[in-house]
Amino acid sequence: NRGLLSCFVTISLSFEILVFYSYKVDGFRDKHVFITGCDSGFGNLLAKQLDGKGFQVIAACLTEKGAADLTAATSPRLKTLLLNVTDSESIRKAPPTLSCFPAAGLWGLVNNAGRSIPIGPTDWMEMEDFTKVLDVNLIGLIDVTLQFIPLLKKARGRVVNVASILGRLNLVGGGYCPSKWGVEAFSDSLRKDMSHFGVKVSIIEPGFFKTAVTSVDLINADMRRLWTRLPQHVKNAYGNTYLEDLQDFSMRMLCSADLSQVTRCMEHALTARFPRTRYGAGWDAKLFWIPLSYLPSFVADFVVKTLLPCPEEAKNNRKAS
Ligand SMILES: *[C@@H]1O[C@H](CO)[C@@H](O)[C@H](O)[C@H]1NC(C)=O
Repeated sequence: NRGLLSCFVTISLSFEILVFYSYKVDGFRDKHVFITGCDSGFGNLLAKQLDGKGFQVIAACLTEKGAADLTAATSPRLKTLLLNVTDSESIRKAPPTLSCFPAAGLWGLVNNAGRSIPIGPTDWMEMEDFTKVLDVNLIGLIDVTLQFIPLLKKARGRVVNVASILGRLNLVGGGYCPSKWGVEAFSDSLRKDMSHFGVKVSIIEPGFFKTAVTSVDLINADMRRLWTRLPQHVKNAYGNTYLEDLQDFSMRMLCSADLSQVTRCMEHALTARFPRTRYGAGWDAKLFWIPLSYLPSFVADFVVKTLLPCPEEAKNNRKAS
């Protein structure tokens, strides 16, 4: 019976694929993982999660408070250090001061630190608004990675870079999307170059999650700052309800509070014998944003434009024509 046979083949093939992806590396207790941005959000949760699994976690935090809170919540195995990824000096000091690194090198580097603001239309921005974000999300990530490559090669380890669905689709203006596209591009080069040395590179593409990066209060307060400094003719072109509409939009964005959907992907990338190249994390990413990103740009543009408010001038032009 053909139907039964093909059914059987399909089931056993999917089962094999499942088994293939679920093979784990062993010896977590001898493996060191360095994570940036552990003050809150994904980095914080991942540090706790890997600590619980027995990994030797080195958690880089931006603030003293972040480091102290994490230390209090984890085992004595976990080490914290203060790291500002935009400060080359502090990155350069990181590998040598980690005397805890064994001769085996570094198993995992998780480049998680990131920021989102300033966010807003491109013509609200000044150059500095772009560089503030690019310095953390892209230049900082490259800088940290370069410092750790020798240790990663030694361990034939893993790099896990946090990009975003906004590294495939441009939903907002400002430095965030270019920085995440940059993370995708840098990770693709790194994956090819490191494959010769047994170092594997994975990219995480989260959808919308409740973290400091998506904090409505921070984003909306900063949008107001951008708006306030605009020249009057630009404000007129956008119309006096535009800022509110845009702030409403960021309030309406549904953000999942279940950050473990992202940290599970990170953990898979660090522990699976065969990690994936890309992990779409969250249902919105898997079912909506990532499929949308494969469609022609005019389709994606159309969808994104229907979600965002429209400037007054564009509405008037439409009426006039
Ligand atoms: C991080 O370093 C940059 C300079 O490299 C500095 O402007 C910024 O204020 C620092 N951030 C924090 C939170 O210390």
